[in-house]
Amino acid sequence: MKLLHVDASAKGEYSNSRALSRHFISLLQMRLPGLEIDYLDVANNPPPHVTEAFAAAIYTPAAERTPQMKETVAYSDALCRQLLQADLLLFAMPMYNWSMPSTFKAYIDNITRFGLTYVYGADGNVAGQLTRQKALFLTTRGGDLRPGAKYDGMDALTPALRAAFGFIGVASPYFVDAQPLQFADQQAREEALQRARRELEAVADEWAAASAAQRTQAVSV
Ligand SMILES: Cc1cc2nc3c(=O)[nH]c(=O)nc-3n(C[C@H](O)[C@H](O)[C@H](O)COP(=O)(O)O)c2cc1C
Repeated sequence: MKLLHVDASAKGEYSNSRALSRHFISLLQMRLPGLEIDYLDVANNPPPHVTEAFAAAIYTPAAERTPQMKETVAYSDALCRQLLQADLLLFAMPMYNWSMPSTFKAYIDNITRFGLTYVYGADGNVAGQLTRQKALFLTTRGGDLRPGAKYDGMDALTPALRAAFGFIGVASPYFVDAQPLQFADQQAREEALQRARRELEAVADEWAAASAAQRTQAVSV
């Protein structure tokens, strides 16, 4: 079983989303021995932004691309393959200005690819190709955006992630949002981290149980 882990915080050592994502991986490793991990850091290795050449290349059928076009989409192709090969997806990121870090948006622009992560089905509708993968979005926020809290209604991050990944086939992603981690007193921050760790433990338990059920099914077939 392979997990793709993507980090997107601009902070290094002091990043909460990086620390929580490492914590989640250690919880998973305890439950899924032999778990393979593929890692991508889009903050330190930002995927390229969309350019005119990129837009022209991705909408040219693969068989008709010029060598130059092939080169233009090569990294995006590789990111798509990496995503499609994973069984489990962990995307960890801070909220920046109510949405996602621009590096993660650039990642989405590279992995939303006709013919790779989505195709047109026989009925003419878009068919996302990531229906097999389980995904967890782990987000950290300075403010509190929970229902009834101070920044309730300001969350442009969750719907954007749900839409972009839903389009490529991720139907029921998990969300763990650690908040408030900045615009709050020390006790509220500590409680937010504890809440997030508890939620991460519950997701790790669910993923391990699903994997055990799959193995049982495979043995009995
Ligand atoms: C450029 C920037 C923009 C931010 N914008 C928001 C925001 O819109 N809403 C919010 O709640 N927190 C915002 N924050 C706070 C971060 O989301 C918060 O500190 C988070 O815990 C950082 O995660 P990290 O430690 O993994 O980098 C912002 C932080 C930065 C650096």
